[in-house]
Amino acid sequence: MKFLVINGPNLNMLGTREPEKYGTTTLSDIEKEISNHAKEKGVEVDFYQSNIEGEIVTAIQKAKGVYDGIVINPAAYTHTSVALRDAILAVELPAVEIHLSNIHTREEFRHHSYTAPVCVGQITGFGKFGYIMALDAIINHCCNL
Ligand code: DQA
Repeated sequence: MKFLVINGPNLNMLGTREPEKYGTTTLSDIEKEISNHAKEKGVEVDFYQSNIEGEIVTAIQKAKGVYDGIVINPAAYTHTSVALRDAILAVELPAVEIHLSNIHTREEFRHHSYTAPVCVGQITGFGKFGYIMALDAIINHCCNL
């Protein structure tokens, strides 16, 4: 099985970006941890990060036929993007949404996610460990399809 892990805007700045909210680990270190976990689980993972909404839409579209599922932290686009929601629906791939912080305990505008209703589920508030949980969740989901 093969999965695509997508990170949205400003997540390339992890490590120095609001560390009290998002931790001090860089995105590339998080990706290494996900890769190690994927190896242990016997699955393949690829990574994609963009700050540009349309590029993420294209990455989701290209995932069709290549990947078995998607793990996505849409970052700020979670709360704004009908386009990302439609892309997930269009490719008919299972997706798990992940957030480092707990979006439900933060500002009101972060409580709503356009993408979560078209995902298998949402993992939010467990820091970088959330990505490991999200990978396990998508593997488990795909194994039980
Ligand atoms: C985030 C939460 C979003 O509200 C925010 O815009 C982000 C990061 C998280 O991982 O906690 O950029 O997705």
